[in-house]
Amino acid sequence: MSTIQILIVSIGAVCLLAAFAAFAIAYRRGGEKTTDWRAALSKETLAADVSETTAPLLAPPTQPESEPIEEQAEPLEEAPPEAEHPAAVSVAEVQRVVEVSPEEAGVTRRQFFNRALLSTWGGYLGLMGLSMLAFAWPKISGGFGSKVDAGAVEDIRAQVFLPDGSVQPLFIPDARAYIMPFDEAAGPQFEGKGVVAGGLTALWQKCVHLGCRVPWCSSSQGFECPCHGSKYNAVGEYQAGPAPRNLDRFVVEVTEDGRFIIDTGSVIQTARATVKTVPYPQGPNCVAIGG
Ligand code: FES
Repeated sequence: MSTIQILIVSIGAVCLLAAFAAFAIAYRRGGEKTTDWRAALSKETLAADVSETTAPLLAPPTQPESEPIEEQAEPLEEAPPEAEHPAAVSVAEVQRVVEVSPEEAGVTRRQFFNRALLSTWGGYLGLMGLSMLAFAWPKISGGFGSKVDAGAVEDIRAQVFLPDGSVQPLFIPDARAYIMPFDEAAGPQFEGKGVVAGGLTALWQKCVHLGCRVPWCSSSQGFECPCHGSKYNAVGEYQAGPAPRNLDRFVVEVTEDGRFIIDTGSVIQTARATVKTVPYPQGPNCVAIGG
C-alpha cells in the first residue's frame, strides 16, 4: 500500500473515531442524571418559582409557648375568604408546577440543541470518513486504480494473435483496458515509459476526447469512437477526429512467473503520433469518417 493510500485510510479512520466520540458524548450527556431538579427546569419556570420566598406563608402557624392554654380557648376569628388573600392562592398553584421530577420534566431546550449539534457533527465526520474509505477502497481491494493481474502472458498472446495473421484486442474488465500486441522497436514514442512488456501493451478503453468507451472495429483494425468519430489504430495511435492525443495506456510488467500485470493507477498520456506504428484503416470503418 502506498503512502497516499495509508494517509487516506488513516484520515478516514480518524474521522470515524471522531464521529464515534461525538455520538458517545451525546449519549452520555443524554444519560446524565442531575440531583438538582432545578437544572431540568426552563428559565420561565424558575422565574415563576416563588416557593422559597413565599414558603413561610405555607408553614403552619406556630403558637407562642408562653401563652396559657386558657387564652387559646377563646373562639378564633373566622378566617377571611380566600379571595382576600390572592398571594396564598398563587403559591399553591406555583407549587403544583414546580414540584416535578427530572424524569417528568424530560429534555430541556439546551439539552436538545446540544445533542442535535453533536449528532450533526458526528454524522458529518462519519460520512466524511466513509467517503474517504470508499475512495481508497478500489486501491485497497485490488480493483481499478491498482495493479490488475490480466493472466499468463502466453495465454494472452494466444488470444490476441489470430491464425490468419490479424490481431484482436483482449478486453480485461477489471482493468478497463484492451491488451494489444505491440512492437516497441516500431514505436519509439513509447520508449522508456514502461507501457510495453512481453510484446503487449494495455490501452485504456476511455476515449481521450470526452470519455466515451471506444469499441474495437475488426474490419478497419482500429478503435473507433461512436460519440464524435475519433479514430485510433490498433495500438491506440491517433488517426482522425476531435481526440487531442493517442489513447491513454497503462504501465505494464511481466512477473517472474509469467503473469501480465496492468498498473491501472499509472496512466501514460502521449501526444498525437506523427509516425504510425501500424497502418490504418485496413478495411471498412465501423463509424463513418468524420463521426
Ligand atoms: S468522446 Fe470519443 S470522439 Fe468524442
